[in-house]
Formats: sequence, C-alpha cells, structure tokens
Amino acid sequence: MSDLQNINVSWDGDLAIVTLDRQERLNALNAEVFTELGEAFDSLRYDDQVRGVIVTGAGDKAFVAGADIGELAKMDALSGVQVSRTGQGVFRTIERFPKPVLAAVGGYALGGGCELALACHMRVGSENARFGLPEVGLGIIPGYGGTVRLARLVGLGRAVEMALTGEMIDADAALAMGLITHVVPQEELLARAKEILRKVTKNGPLAVRMVLESIYRGLDTTLVEATGVESTLFGLLASTEDMREGMTAFLEKRKPEFKGR
Ligand code: COA
Repeated sequence: MSDLQNINVSWDGDLAIVTLDRQERLNALNAEVFTELGEAFDSLRYDDQVRGVIVTGAGDKAFVAGADIGELAKMDALSGVQVSRTGQGVFRTIERFPKPVLAAVGGYALGGGCELALACHMRVGSENARFGLPEVGLGIIPGYGGTVRLARLVGLGRAVEMALTGEMIDADAALAMGLITHVVPQEELLARAKEILRKVTKNGPLAVRMVLESIYRGLDTTLVEATGVESTLFGLLASTEDMREGMTAFLEKRKPEFKGR
C-alpha cells in the first residue's frame, strides 16, 4: 500500500480497520479517496492475516457526508459518467470482496457515504448515525449504486421515499427498516463492530467466502441459476480440509481450527 493521505488502515488481530479521514470535509469522497480506497482493498485482499474488514469514518461527526460537492460541481456530462463509474467500480470491489466487510457508521452517512455503507456486507450504526440520499436536492441522483442497492436492501417503498425526498433518517428508523442491524452508543461503535465481525471470522474462512459468493452472485441472476451456483459452491467446500475439520471438531466436541484450505 503506498502512502495514503485520506485513509488510515490499522489492524486488530485478524481484522483490518479502514478509516476514511478527511475530517475538514466530513470525510467526503473525492477522486483521491476513491483511488486510495481501491488500493487499500486490493492490498487487503491478498493479506492472509486479514479475515475481515471494518470501514469507518474518522471523528465522531460523520461516517462519510457524501461525494465531495466541490469536485462534483465541476462535472460535465462525460466526466459525470466517469465519476459515477469510478465510484461504482470501487464499491463493487467492496461488495464482491472475498472477506466480510462491515460498515461502522458514526454520524452522517449521506449520499456516497450511504452508498458506501450499502456496498459493505453488514452495517452497524451509532445512536447519532443519520442516513440519507440528498442528491435530488443538488439536482443529481445517487450515482454509486445507491438507487439499486437501497431498494434491494430495504424494499422499494422505503428506498423510493428516501431517494425522492432526500430526507435523513435516524439510527432507529434505519434499524427498523433493516438498513443497519445494530444501534450502539458512539463510544462503543468500534468495539461492537469488532465483536460482530469476529462472530464471522471465527468460522471457516472458505465457507464465509462462499456464503458471500453465493448471496451476491445470486442477487445478479435468476433463482434457478442462483441455486445452481449454491450447489456448486456447496460441493466445492466438501473438498476442503476446513469442512473435515469443522465436522470432526463437532463430533469430537471441541472447537474447530480452520486453516482456510
Ligand atoms: N462535500 C464537500 N464538502 C462537504 C460535504 C460534501 N459532501 N459535506 C460537508 N462538507 C464540508 C462543509 O462544506 C463544511 O466545510 P467548511 O467548514 O469549509 O464550510 C465542512 O464540511 C463541515 O460541514 P458543515 O456543513 O459545516 O457541518 P454541519 O454540521 O453544519 O452539517 C451536514 C453537516 C452533513 C448536514 C452538511 O455538511 C451537508 O449537508 N453536507 C452535504 C451532504 C450531501 O449533500 N451529500 C451528498 C453529496 S452528493
């Protein structure tokens, strides 16, 4: 990983913590942040020590307050398409990351920040978390996959209302609609995020990877094809040492020691 200016990557055991840190702009996403975010995930992908990733924002005010409006204001039609595609590409990398990615959302997750959280596999919010897609108020639409992912996650009615009104919702409303799965006090956010992610990383890493593969590939295709993919992945896991270890450990009444093979 080269010298990152807007992102800090730290490690806690088998977890990597990716912190977006542009606090003077409430961690807003600009072209440089996207490049660095892509670079960070590319490097974590091949780091065998890393079993899961937390994405969070620096400071207690914002996760990410959206795309950098100063930068967006300079777009024309062609560069606008490129801006959208670049963001979508990086968020797709996160969504299809082979290790679990959890967004720990403290404060504002607006526009691109909400879309970043949506691209992660799981989302936890602090009590002061606020979610919204305010783009329509700026004369644009969410361009980093937000219109698509929000509707899939929380249902059409709620997604349409959020994207059309541009209004923010609080943590409890986000919890009620399934946009986040836990609300925790701000000071406990990171600790709880780690606790939740470790419930995943204690499991067989290949099985975890294949769950993500099956669910996210399944979203892109028909039920018949998706269940076909699930069977193939299920069969593939039957050839692994991890499957033998998991089942032997159960029968021997001990904890499994997964090796990721
Ligand atoms: N892009 C660029 N700069 C941003 C930003 C963004 N998305 N969000 C916040 N900032 C900047 C502000 O301009 C301000 O800069 P300044 O200190 O030079 O004036 C600084 O971050 C602090 O934000 P401020 O607006 O003063 O904080 P606040 O507590 O009054 O309001 C928000 C917080 C999040 C409600 C407000 O900043 C906001 O509405 N931001 C834009 C959200 C948005 O529309 N995102 C989608 C973009 S497509």
